[in-house]
Amino acid sequence: MKLVFATNNLHKLEEIQALLGNQIKVLSLKNINCNEEIPETGTTLEANALQKSDYVYSRYKINCFADDTGLEVDALNGEPGVYSARYAGDDKDAEANMQKVLQKLDGVEDRKARFRTVISLIMDGKEFQFEGRVEGEILKEKSGSEGFGYDPIFKPEGFDVSFAEMELTQKNKISHRGRAVVKLIEFLKKEYA
Ligand code: IMP
Repeated sequence: MKLVFATNNLHKLEEIQALLGNQIKVLSLKNINCNEEIPETGTTLEANALQKSDYVYSRYKINCFADDTGLEVDALNGEPGVYSARYAGDDKDAEANMQKVLQKLDGVEDRKARFRTVISLIMDGKEFQFEGRVEGEILKEKSGSEGFGYDPIFKPEGFDVSFAEMELTQKNKISHRGRAVVKLIEFLKKEYA
């Protein structure tokens, strides 16, 4: 069986292919000659993930899935949420995004936050969604240099280090994306492998 992953991130694609084994072949957007930018104009992670999977399914008539992730900070009413990549501007500057969160939380005691990933899978025209989340808190300052995005300011619950101080394999075991991917893979193996 073949399945498109609607992402341009080849690292994510390889990771999922390794987890799925060889019964399900994951294709990239390039593999199906989809070279255009897929719109992401939804106001929720769920809507954005569906927008991307539906874009590919309706144009290319091939089963596919897409993901969308956001950091949700309770004291900021769930911001940056669906706008996580562009929180401080269109250039997707991770440093500026972190500084914006830290500034907005300056003096704020409640630092609870979570990362949430939603995967939208379309199989023969039917949509299925899988969610993964990791609860945690926003640190007062950056710590660590691994990872990407908001990793240096996010400390997952039950750990004394930030995501940016963890090894990738350890982060993947407990992360939002890792958890959503496990649900997707369990579903695919059960229903289609
Ligand atoms: P995407 O939907 O996977 O492209 O993620 C959207 C944005 O959320 C990214 O540009 C990052 O700013 C942030 N983000 C997603 N996953 C992570 C993560 O694992 N650590 C830190 N930031 C993340």
